[in-house]
Amino acid sequence: MSNKEAFFDHINEGYACKGEYLTLGAGMLEEETITNALVNIPLKTLNRHGLIAGATGTGKTKTLQVLAENMSEKGIPVLLMDVKGDLSGLAQASTGHPKIDERHEKIGIPFDAKKFPIEILTISEQDGVRLRATVSEFGPVLLSRILDLTETQAGIVAIIFKYCDDNQLPLLDLKDFKKLLQFITNEGKEEIQEEYGRISSSSTGAILRKIVEIEQQGGELFFGERSFEVDDLTRIDENGRGVISVLRLTDIQDKPKLFSTFMLQLLAEVYETFPEQGDSGRPELIIFIDEAHLVFDEASKALLSQIESIVKLIRSKGIGLYFVTQNPKDVPEDVLAQLGMKVQHALRAFTAKDRKALKLASENYPDSEYYKTEEVLTQLGIGEALVSVLNEKGIPTPLVRTMLRAPMSRMDILTEKEIQEVLDNSKLIKKYNDTVDRESAYELLNDKIKRINKEKERDVEERKSTRRSSSSSRKSTRMNPIVKVLTSATFIRSVFGILKKVI
Ligand SMILES: Nc1ncnc2c1ncn2[C@@H]1O[C@H](COP(=O)(O)OP(=O)(O)OP(=O)(O)O)[C@@H](O)[C@H]1O
Ligand SMILES: [Mg+2]
Repeated sequence: MSNKEAFFDHINEGYACKGEYLTLGAGMLEEETITNALVNIPLKTLNRHGLIAGATGTGKTKTLQVLAENMSEKGIPVLLMDVKGDLSGLAQASTGHPKIDERHEKIGIPFDAKKFPIEILTISEQDGVRLRATVSEFGPVLLSRILDLTETQAGIVAIIFKYCDDNQLPLLDLKDFKKLLQFITNEGKEEIQEEYGRISSSSTGAILRKIVEIEQQGGELFFGERSFEVDDLTRIDENGRGVISVLRLTDIQDKPKLFSTFMLQLLAEVYETFPEQGDSGRPELIIFIDEAHLVFDEASKALLSQIESIVKLIRSKGIGLYFVTQNPKDVPEDVLAQLGMKVQHALRAFTAKDRKALKLASENYPDSEYYKTEEVLTQLGIGEALVSVLNEKGIPTPLVRTMLRAPMSRMDILTEKEIQEVLDNSKLIKKYNDTVDRESAYELLNDKIKRINKEKERDVEERKSTRRSSSSSRKSTRMNPIVKVLTSATFIRSVFGILKKVI
């Protein structure tokens, strides 16, 4: 048997699937693509996460596009982060190219130009379905992180959340939060100190300044209502294809904190919302995070361990996370160890530092009798990658140099007009794009402050009249202001809304 025949059998055995699967491309020996030596990924192990790495311009984003298309075709919904704006092309069919035909001929699968059902989401000023979360959904830990607070300041944020929980004050947007900061340093100072300890006004002042900063970065756009229901990420279109939600992030690259915190909040929300999944043999949702280093850069230890545990646990809910980044080293080791699928595009070896990174990267891959990993890594052409996935039994498949198939949709951005078309056909825009500002902590505290001030006035009045009449029954049975707030009908209505969300 020739080396080529042996290789063909090696790949066909290694990548055989009994259940449903998708095809990524064909194996290569030396520089030659071995037609029909197909590299398949079982749908069953897609929830075991993955990594797409490689130097700039080597084909990472196109691999993401290919994976998203094939998942959608199999009825799997996808959420992807479009950091460079080049993924919206999914909504239009490819116009084809002789090079693409040549590529597919070598691989042994026909090329079909197709468009896919997409929904455009946004967290910034760009058009799209608005993804929002309330401040209380964010929670004190992530809010402190997004604001870049010191430990002491984070402690104050935790107290504010506790106070709002205890007093059932809905924290919806940044306006609510600012009002609380103002309240605890002024009218509410005594009440807070009694129950939660002293709070320095210089710390609250610092927190306030940070909030103003985040507002200037456009942060108030994604705090508030109507908050996004993650179930809307798992839609299937009328032809049985998974809807691809494209989150536009082109204007967010210089705001890594905003982006990463938002990502984490979304992951936490997805994790909490989705039920445990039995063995359905296919994932519920696949999330691709392009430019993933933005998530991990500057993350605190506590936060990293939070990410690690989400990555570990979320797969039992049928959710697969795929990180796309230039260097695998951008991803923390404990997360890297959780990633079942690896697609490594070419790496460069210009400098000593590059060569060290290359050595490290090659150590992440299983040995192969057909390749010297370290060498192949620098020789890979554009749209080629070293691939290893998990087979149906959950065991790593043999490492294979792969000629990847081309995207069926456009490998470029949509025009403004085409984007408008997608938005016009959106099923979610009407649901999410009107700002709601229902009664929340801001209004409730305003009422409360008014009441406190009135009571103070009344106290002064009473004291005056008491002096006059020299009566001793000054303390009245007046209702405690908090109890008053709690029993007001409008409050109960608005709390009910948020409780439904929180519980
Ligand atoms: N699977 C493929 N089929 C056909 N052409 C491809 C494929 N992958 C990559 N290419 C070609 O290579 C170009 C660069 O690919 P891509 O944008 O995916 O690189 P990248 O690794 O994401 O780069 P960056 O790090 O700069 O974002 C594409 O515009 C396309 O012309
Ligand atoms: Mg890219």
